[in-house]
Amino acid sequence: MVATPGGFLYEHLADELVHAIDRGSLRAGDRLPSVRRLAQERSVSVSTVLEAYLQLENAGLIEVRPKSGHFVRRRAAPAPASEPRVPRPVVKPSRVTVSDAYTRVLAAMRDPSLVPLGCATVDAAYLPIAQINRIITQVTREMVTVGARYEAAPGLLTLRRQIARRAVESGMTLAEDDLCTTIGATEGLSLALLAVARPGDVIAVESPAYFGVLQTIEGLNLRAIEIPANPRTGLDVSAFEETIRQQRVAAVVVTPTISNPLGAIMPDEERERLVRIAKRADIPIIEDDVYGELVFDGTRPRPLRAYDDEIVVHVSSVSKTLAPGYRVGWIAGGRWHDQIVRKKYSHSLACPALLGMAVAEFLASGGYDRHLRRLRGVLAGNVERYREGILEEFPDGTRVSSPRGGFVLWVELPPGGDALALHEAALRRGIVVAPGPLFSARQRFGNYIRISAGTPWDERIAASIRTLGRLAAKE
Ligand SMILES: Cc1ncc(COP(=O)(O)O)c(C=O)c1O
Repeated sequence: MVATPGGFLYEHLADELVHAIDRGSLRAGDRLPSVRRLAQERSVSVSTVLEAYLQLENAGLIEVRPKSGHFVRRRAAPAPASEPRVPRPVVKPSRVTVSDAYTRVLAAMRDPSLVPLGCATVDAAYLPIAQINRIITQVTREMVTVGARYEAAPGLLTLRRQIARRAVESGMTLAEDDLCTTIGATEGLSLALLAVARPGDVIAVESPAYFGVLQTIEGLNLRAIEIPANPRTGLDVSAFEETIRQQRVAAVVVTPTISNPLGAIMPDEERERLVRIAKRADIPIIEDDVYGELVFDGTRPRPLRAYDDEIVVHVSSVSKTLAPGYRVGWIAGGRWHDQIVRKKYSHSLACPALLGMAVAEFLASGGYDRHLRRLRGVLAGNVERYREGILEEFPDGTRVSSPRGGFVLWVELPPGGDALALHEAALRRGIVVAPGPLFSARQRFGNYIRISAGTPWDERIAASIRTLGRLAAKE
């Protein structure tokens, strides 16, 4: 392959064709020039054109029709007018550089002195922290030696029992022995990737993806390939299917119930199809379910793990519903359970026993469901109020997601909008938002931001949204 200073020739050609499709100069159903003709026109080799076409095929943009040639494929139905659009797919895997490129952005998102529109956490006022703290006091009174031994992997039995009980209610067949406790879902994601992939392997992720997954991929020296995701229906399963036909993929990481940042919920048929395709190709699915309990109307879809208990590795935590600071998470490793337990040993050996006990006690008390019902109600209200505020205050042409759960909004700025410049300008005024490029291995989504609606709407938030709107009109 011929490499130029900006990359391989076939990549330039593929990019050019993608732009032509984006601009509409090549439309759904149009036939692309024959390989030989394009090679002649561009003075490149036939194999360069073939490689470029292959990249576009992998990305689900074009299809080959036997004996007829290459054709532009139909795209998924467009989102309703005010919702963010699905940008063009990425055509090849890449190394991830989220941590290096965005150290300052990530630090700002965690700075408690700023107006917290960046970090995906809910306000302390919504969480039963006082109740859990009371349980902690009680546990330390009754079990004075709680800290005197390791609750080594697979971790605290009482906690695993409570998690298994709740999992069965959501449609999964999980027993306590299928589970290992983890330090938040973050450790679960790391352990899952450590168990199923080797350095250099390619991991399929949603595009946009939760940046923490990208950082984990980066930290483990893996590569990411971005699969387009729709703000309503999540991961494009057809694009995933095409990708794995062309490219070896070691695993796919997906958040099927309220993805972050899109807030999408995969329909049941697509869940079933994803599991069937992955199973046939023997590709592990790492299911991140941290928002699973936060569907506003309480109709939690069946997790992917309910469709298959072998190929799906299920990861979750109480970070979005109870207490992110307690770092209580878990993993049901399916076929990789034993490896995951061994990895947990070498990674961190055990989880803090006291916090696990307190959460297990809280789950057993029956107060969790009551708390969740209240939490879903307030978050639904917040999301609606923030959404209206953004649509009112941001410049014309802004699009905002309309999630059916969770508490983050994905905002597409009008063409030309610069999320990183907006982030910087907002920071100077004491407000933090999450800029779109954080959510992509290739720093795409330059004109998107994520706004968290986890804080009660009040005058300070209203004023911050107004300020952001004004800045967005300038940046
Ligand atoms: C999709 C997703 N997965 C995992 C996490 C991290 O979870 P934990 O705090 O349990 O490590 C987050 C936090 O923002 C998230 O949004």
